[in-house]
Amino acid sequence: MYKNHTHCRACGLGKPSIPTLKVSTAAGPDVAAQQLVPVMDLGLQPLANDFADMLDEHAGFAPLKVMLCPRCNLSQLSIVVNPKDLYRHYSYVTSKSETMNLHFHNLMGDIMDESGFGSVVEIGSNDGTLLRKMRMDGFGPVMGIDPAENLCAISTANGVDNICSMFGFDSAQKALDHMGQPHIIIARHVFCHIDDWRNAIKCMEMLADKETAIFIEVPYVMDMLKDGSFDTIYHEHLSYLNVRSMEYALKESKLHLHAIKRYPIHGGAIVMTLRRNDWADSPDESVAWFLSEERSGVEEWRKFSQESEVRIMQLGGLVRNLVSEGKTIVGYGASAKSTVWINACGFTRKEIKYICDNTPQKQYKVSPGTNIPICDDGALTRDLPTHALCWAWNFRDEIIEKEQIFRKHGGKWIFPTPNVEVI
Ligand code: TMP
Repeated sequence: MYKNHTHCRACGLGKPSIPTLKVSTAAGPDVAAQQLVPVMDLGLQPLANDFADMLDEHAGFAPLKVMLCPRCNLSQLSIVVNPKDLYRHYSYVTSKSETMNLHFHNLMGDIMDESGFGSVVEIGSNDGTLLRKMRMDGFGPVMGIDPAENLCAISTANGVDNICSMFGFDSAQKALDHMGQPHIIIARHVFCHIDDWRNAIKCMEMLADKETAIFIEVPYVMDMLKDGSFDTIYHEHLSYLNVRSMEYALKESKLHLHAIKRYPIHGGAIVMTLRRNDWADSPDESVAWFLSEERSGVEEWRKFSQESEVRIMQLGGLVRNLVSEGKTIVGYGASAKSTVWINACGFTRKEIKYICDNTPQKQYKVSPGTNIPICDDGALTRDLPTHALCWAWNFRDEIIEKEQIFRKHGGKWIFPTPNVEVI
């Protein structure tokens, strides 16, 4: 189901090359400096998006442990789950929420400012939502690359062409055959899923011509550490990116960091713009700023890990107390984050009656690792429980606004992130 991951995928530290082996046989602090360092352990967890029918076979559990590279500070999981297990029931669909629409609007504006309109390849295009919007706004032609057959079918039905495959040499070549070198390459929340960065960078080099701008959006580890959002740690996210590690990864390549910008989406993300090394303009000052400001070393991780443990105890205690007082608690948002929280707190159907979610692919399945069922989001107003525990905290304002009937009938929201809070 998984293999161990022992070397840094950004800078290569820990790879069994001759110099490293020589150092690692010596005793003393140098040994530690040559290996990934464990910084957080969430125990055995189910695969966060393994939403399946109650009686279906589930993928099972695997260790969820974060290691940190002491050289480039890339935090990465200690294992790599076989993508066949990870993506077999893939149910993550790009959100159609107002929050996401606003993000796409801002992102498209920034892409336009950097590179103007032109052809687009999106790596990890999901159901084609962004490409469809880009085409409507004047970008094009567009082409997606995504391995999920169910999502590619939706994309095709919506008139967005895609190559149904993992991103690699074959799919990059197919995109080239179809549309030539694109003016714009986008990879949203994909790099954290990729094990072999070197290969991915080579494929992007293959796609990029001198004018191509590459936009890589990732959840930003600094925001995760600041806001305590440990619930974004799950097996699909092999790495928790900082800018320094990307700079290391690009060192031997034909690409470099050209600009970096922060966005509030998904609890805090950055978009790193890459350009070819023969691009005329020098890098924006944002690159140097991020590199100098970033602090995501062992100390920050250990603090984050301890604070996360406290919040897990707090939420577990709060929910169990409420249940013992006869209150009814349902979950809201069967996000991957909900799986992490539920399994960390050991919740079952006894504590959480069900989880409301508006994604048809998740409804009437059970939350991974538990017997908690997923219902449609209308269940909240039909049932009017006393409390709703919102695991889609990244859409907090939008959800509170939408579910006013629940509030009017005295329903209380519980938010677990950034602090455990009842409102
Ligand atoms: P995400 O943070 O990984 O996108 O997951 C959010 C989950 O919450 C997703 O399964 C969709 C669900 N959701 C609702 O059910 N209702 C809503 O209004 C919103 C914004 C999200």
